[in-house]
Amino acid sequence: MGVNATAWWRSAVIYQIYPRSFADGNGDGIGDLAGVRARLGHLAALGVDAIWFSPWYASPQADAGYDVADYRAIDPVFGTLVEAEELIRQAHALGIRVVVDVVPNHCSSEHPWFSEAVHSGPGSTARDLFWFRDGRGEAGELPPNDWQSIFGGPAWTRVRDGQWYLHLFDPGQPDLNWEHPKVREEFEDVLRFWLDRGADGIRIDSAALLMKDGELGDFDHAEPPVPHPYMDRDEVHDVYRAWRAIVDGYPEPRALIGELWLPDPERFAAYLRPDELHTAFNFGFLGCAWRAKALRAVVDATLAVHAPVDAPATWVLSNHDVPRHVTRYGREDTTFTLEHRQLGVPTDRALGLRRARAALLLTLALPGSVYLYQGEELGLEEVEDIPDALRQDPMFVRTNGANLGRDGCRVPLPWSGGAPPFGFSPPGAGRDPWLPQPAAWRDRTVEAQTGDPDSMLELYRRALACRRSQPELGDGPFAWLPGADPDVLAFTRGGRGALACVLNLSTAPVGLPAGTVLLASGPLDGAHLPPDTAVWLRT
Ligand code: NOJ
Repeated sequence: MGVNATAWWRSAVIYQIYPRSFADGNGDGIGDLAGVRARLGHLAALGVDAIWFSPWYASPQADAGYDVADYRAIDPVFGTLVEAEELIRQAHALGIRVVVDVVPNHCSSEHPWFSEAVHSGPGSTARDLFWFRDGRGEAGELPPNDWQSIFGGPAWTRVRDGQWYLHLFDPGQPDLNWEHPKVREEFEDVLRFWLDRGADGIRIDSAALLMKDGELGDFDHAEPPVPHPYMDRDEVHDVYRAWRAIVDGYPEPRALIGELWLPDPERFAAYLRPDELHTAFNFGFLGCAWRAKALRAVVDATLAVHAPVDAPATWVLSNHDVPRHVTRYGREDTTFTLEHRQLGVPTDRALGLRRARAALLLTLALPGSVYLYQGEELGLEEVEDIPDALRQDPMFVRTNGANLGRDGCRVPLPWSGGAPPFGFSPPGAGRDPWLPQPAAWRDRTVEAQTGDPDSMLELYRRALACRRSQPELGDGPFAWLPGADPDVLAFTRGGRGALACVLNLSTAPVGLPAGTVLLASGPLDGAHLPPDTAVWLRT
């Protein structure tokens, strides 16, 4: 198939690089752009169409770079702007597109705007760019309202002169005031800055949170009021209409990709109208139980939601915010929601791997684009035994460890060798990887898996190559095969229905439809498909 050059985002396989943990070029134990540049060959061999880089900007790293101090500079820990430009060129030369992550809801407390706001004092115009308010209580000692930070604790922090500022995430991430024209102008300029440097797409962080109800009243309810005081407010759509106009002004197609955690499908689809975002992450699919009925329902709901706005669906199983899916699928309860992170429960790794292999064939066969998170091609599991003292996620710190947070899916990748740092850092590096790698990862390195036909890595390579070669895969028609067992997902792709994907979610082998098997996620049992196994067939 290859990527459709005019609307590449409709079919692309996009690989997420979390720069801290991908590859360390300079030996300081933290991944960087030099490391990525040296390892681009891995991504070309894997066969991905694009890379999405989690934030690489200048940042105090209070939330691993999602706290941006300068949207136009690369953090020295990762490299320089010149290296980023070179990396974009190098990726393009390999036929790989580049998506950058823009974080508009908040900046860093070390952003010059915020420093100026803190120093300028109450009532200053510098404070108008944020949400500064007096506190409640006799001496203003209580936060202005009862909002809670998504990372735990109050969403307000007090500055020395007594005022409070709003931060829906960490205190190091003050929320910007999107009613202010200067904020809008600044981000429109930031978009152009990266588009001018060759970015093919923009991933928009916390895309539904930008606008706030200026009343800043208490929730005061068991359920948040409607409209929600800061989530998915109607006014946010104006922002994305303006962004779409900017993106559409470029001759080569560029895509806007929203990070939207929204339960209401129609509200979600509103962001994908033709004059707004091109695509958004499908978190309903990510969190879905490994059950045929639930998966069928989520696929149907996804396609139904996207059809009226003619936007392509996306399929994603893992990212830097959620427990790795090999681990989730090895559990009794395979669901995930932001409130239900489920760490530290018994896990059957073999089962998780088998299901993850089948899930790969499922996602790559569904219509639309697919996101892969670095390390899933190696079958990496969530690392749960990180010592508390080494954990860095503010979610862990702000909940006093009640929430283990996201460090477990952010452990540096194993590339080669038999002991940490497994080639993540160069030989003789002065520092250990920023999070410890499990000893068992000696069997999960790129080196160990390359050439082993049964490895996860070789399955990913075969599956991506096969997806490219089959014109029906990616964007395009989809239909369930009639008459399948209720515990089996079976569908065809393409108008003539010549390509089928069958996934057995029952506990017994099932008969396969007639046809030639192009690819299987695991060994077949003659003409039968074993449980937790998927195939692609030409019928
Ligand atoms: C979503 C990002 O994916 C997450 O990692 C981050 O902590 C929050 N947005 C805040 O920027």
